[in-house]
Amino acid sequence: MRAARVALRGAAPLVAGGNSGRQAPQAVERFSRYSPSPLSIKQFLDFGSANGCERTSFAFLRQELPVRLANILREIDLLPDQLQSTPSVQLVKSWYIQSLLDLVEFHQKNPEDHRVLSDFIDTLITVRNRHHDVVPTMAQGVIEYQDTFGVDPATNQNIQYFLDRFYMNRISIRMLINQHTLLFDDHTNSSHPQHIGSIDPCCDVVGVVNDAFESSRRVCDQYYLASPELRLIQVNGRVPGQPIHIVYVPSHLFHILFELFKNAMRATVEHQENSSSLSPVEVTVVLGNEDLTIKISDRGGGVPLRKINLLFSYTYSTAPRPVMDNSRNAPLAGFGYGLPISRLYAKYFQGDLSLYSVPGYGTDAIVYLKALSTESVEKVPVFNKSAFKRYQMATEPDDWCIPSKPKNQVRQSTAVWKEVARC
Ligand SMILES: Nc1ncnc2c1ncn2[C@@H]1O[C@H](COP(=O)(O)OP(=O)(O)OP(=O)(O)O)[C@@H](O)[C@H]1O
Ligand SMILES: [Mg+2]
Repeated sequence: MRAARVALRGAAPLVAGGNSGRQAPQAVERFSRYSPSPLSIKQFLDFGSANGCERTSFAFLRQELPVRLANILREIDLLPDQLQSTPSVQLVKSWYIQSLLDLVEFHQKNPEDHRVLSDFIDTLITVRNRHHDVVPTMAQGVIEYQDTFGVDPATNQNIQYFLDRFYMNRISIRMLINQHTLLFDDHTNSSHPQHIGSIDPCCDVVGVVNDAFESSRRVCDQYYLASPELRLIQVNGRVPGQPIHIVYVPSHLFHILFELFKNAMRATVEHQENSSSLSPVEVTVVLGNEDLTIKISDRGGGVPLRKINLLFSYTYSTAPRPVMDNSRNAPLAGFGYGLPISRLYAKYFQGDLSLYSVPGYGTDAIVYLKALSTESVEKVPVFNKSAFKRYQMATEPDDWCIPSKPKNQVRQSTAVWKEVARC
């Protein structure tokens, strides 16, 4: 019944004119004055505990979701005009505004009314469906803009900065929506009864490593008809000899590891195409007192130093761009989104992701996550003066000699010769 009332994916109404057209700027202005309120995993768990109640979660979300939507809408307005006016960015913006208005309506409604709570869940599901294609649609806008206008380094830096914040904001909004719907929607049957919403209080890290490896292997086998083996070492530095568990969102961890394994496998198979056997991908999982670290080491030939800074740039890829043909076969590589988005997932709960490469040999990708749920606090962007200034900033100061600049060289060598002649 509920599904029928909820808007279908992609069938999002656009905010054209009329009342909503007038309300939109006011709502954005009003809610962007508030800073988002990041939650810790511990707080997420409290919403789902015996004392947690749907009305409290409703009251929090009807304020917090509009705040997060409005904050990022203000940043969309700071993008270059030609990027903002692409049909893709216009569409994404209309989704955000519509969702903001849908949620703001609940400010007038009574949390004690069961009907209101049920309608709120419907609205959350509508919002989630409406935003389903935000990542590829925004990516399309950026590609259209880059292809049509070309992008100077300063603008590119701003776009990369924006995309990191925009996608992180989206991860956070989805997390809030998923928690509420999984916890309070009677129609959602949890396949993981021990989970609190999407959080596993006892996440089996090595289990997720194995799942992600196998999934990546299937994609790699489909593409290359070969794939490397997994070699795994685990060290529980807290309670030696015991399995490694943390409080975490397994789907986030899976996403990160799946992307890293696809990269490691592709590099290994391509670099060792003439070998009779493939070197395994080595994974080391270590639980320390504060951090959970996962190191993924491959012998895929590494990345030249010259390219290291590009790895976390959106759309940077050395693979051919995959064709979007709606087939069920996921491509192994080619969008240039794997690393930057994985790093956002790692950073979302205060972790990180780094790549260390030995060119000619291989690469270590290291994922750091907080081992303690009290320290795993959401990292959410806020629209404020600092963010505003960041968009006005030109590129890094140009205060180092560039060897290829002939003018400098000529001027410098003339000066040197004059000096020599004086001696
Ligand atoms: N382990 C690795 N070894 C060598 N090169 C790597 C490794 N990981 C990433 N790279 C390089 O970094 C680029 C960007 O990686 P990223 O995962 O962001 O995008 P992609 O793999 O090309 O596409 P997709 O978005 O589908 O993952 C890759 O195209 C590849 O050139
Ligand atoms: Mg990749």
